Amino acid sequence: MQITQKHILVVGGSKRIGLELTRRFLKEGSFVSCLYRTLSPELESLKQQYSENLICIPFDLSSLISLSQAANQVSAWKPSIDALIMVASSFYRTPLSEVTESQWDELFDTNVKGHFFLIQQLLPTLAPQSGVITLVDMFAVKPLRGYSAYTSAKGAFLTLTRNLAKELAPKTRVNSISPGAVLLPEDFSPEESAHHATRNLLGRLGSPEDIVNATLFLLENDYVTGLNLHVDGGASLL
Ligand SMILES: NC(=O)c1ccc[n+]([C@@H]2O[C@H](COP(=O)([O-])OP(=O)(O)OC[C@H]3O[C@@H](n4cnc5c(N)ncnc54)[C@H](OP(=O)(O)O)[C@@H]3O)[C@@H](O)[C@H]2O)c1
Repeated sequence: MQITQKHILVVGGSKRIGLELTRRFLKEGSFVSCLYRTLSPELESLKQQYSENLICIPFDLSSLISLSQAANQVSAWKPSIDALIMVASSFYRTPLSEVTESQWDELFDTNVKGHFFLIQQLLPTLAPQSGVITLVDMFAVKPLRGYSAYTSAKGAFLTLTRNLAKELAPKTRVNSISPGAVLLPEDFSPEESAHHATRNLLGRLGSPEDIVNATLFLLENDYVTGLNLHVDGGASLL
């Protein structure tokens, strides 16, 4: 698929990796529906710059009503979707002896359940030869001590992605990207940041552009489906 003039829905496109995806799609001449929870100044400024090509819609992955309203707003703007990029997520430490049910629910809502029901809502709008890409995590298959709720949710998201590749073929291709350390959480300590930044075969952090390039690769290669593409500097081999 060539993305120029195509309608792409970015689920969680207001900041960090999602914002870079939104920016690149607009630069390539796509029409972008951008779902956000918090409207960033950068997204507001893209809205002014690309007023014809960008629509921004608030949503909350923890609320099925909100997902349904967002899906309706997307299809009211453009009735069919060529590509759906599932980015939004929450990520935090949940030590096994302390994790609460509400933390478990939030991590599952934002990393798999909300995405599942949003895709369900959008099924009738997926165009022939469309593509779905989910942002998973290398820790979905290489568990991370202290993060069992998050990694379990991402593991489920990876399985969901592979399942959808079967269910939606041949009309829609479905792939995932599993990043390693690309943009570290803003609340990481300097020690944690240094540890994660260098714990891979290349000895450095990735960049949002690496994820954007992987996304374009998966959208443009019409014979790739069911793939989980690691963009992690080889960290999953350690
Ligand atoms: N960054 C990395 O190095 C890295 C590594 C491995 C995997 N990944 C995966 O790659 C993707 C993008 O990473 P990132 O670091 O750019 O993501 P992020 O900053 O952690 O989160 C992306 C967005 O998710 C939104 N979000 C959280 N809870 C939500 C909810 N209930 N409803 C709607 N939106 C919600 C956030 O909204 P707010 O703006 O309101 O907070 C945020 O804008 C994620 O799926 C992440 O798991 C990233």
